[in-house]
Amino acid sequence: MSKVYVFDHPLIQHKLSVLRDKRTSVKEFRELISEIAMLMCFEATRDLPLEEVEIETPVAVAKCRRIAGKKLAVVPILRAGLGMVEGMISLIPNVKVGHVGLFRDPQTLEPVKYYFKMPPDIQERDVIVVDPMLATGGSASAAISFIKETGAPHIKLMSIIGAPEGVERMQADHPDVDIYVAALDDHLNDHGYIVPGLGDAGDRIFGTK
Ligand code: PRP
Ligand code: URA
Repeated sequence: MSKVYVFDHPLIQHKLSVLRDKRTSVKEFRELISEIAMLMCFEATRDLPLEEVEIETPVAVAKCRRIAGKKLAVVPILRAGLGMVEGMISLIPNVKVGHVGLFRDPQTLEPVKYYFKMPPDIQERDVIVVDPMLATGGSASAAISFIKETGAPHIKLMSIIGAPEGVERMQADHPDVDIYVAALDDHLNDHGYIVPGLGDAGDRIFGTK
């Protein structure tokens, strides 16, 4: 069974409260999505392996630790996942970025794929899939199935808000994929929206409503 991490850091929780507010402007919403992604990235990469190195300071040789050459890829689920990429890149400047384009069919709520492009060496990389909303879990589960088909060995999912239904679906479909969220909300409404949630993340990032 995969693990679910809920980040209760005060900075993340404070920013999330502003993000949820329906009065928050598009500009501020974008900035907050990016900042929360950066803070979550900091926590979600806590298990990266380190190696010892010796560094000459102006005074003496210091024994230091560096990330042990682990290769990472970030894969946003389009569109809303794009809003989280800049925050991830600000902490991992050389990270490669793949893209999975999915939208939910408004009638069936099932994900429909319209774009898929991964870095060529994806099989050698640990993948962090990013999407602000984990609602029914259909989009994340489908995106991760497509990514697994390329041979990527280790995948994590990072979402800002998750619903219990989405977590359950992910754990059933992908028990090997750990889930990182800033909040686990109450339930989904009849339209598949997370309650209380924050509304439609894509529309709020791109100002399309
Ligand atoms: C939203 C969101 C997720 C998906 C979550 O995308 O960004 O990708 O819904 O719902 P699910 O867990 O029930 O699949 P949407 O389909 O609205 O597309 P968009 O990002 O292009 O706005
Ligand atoms: N997608 C969103 O953008 N918001 C939700 O609440 C559910 C799915």
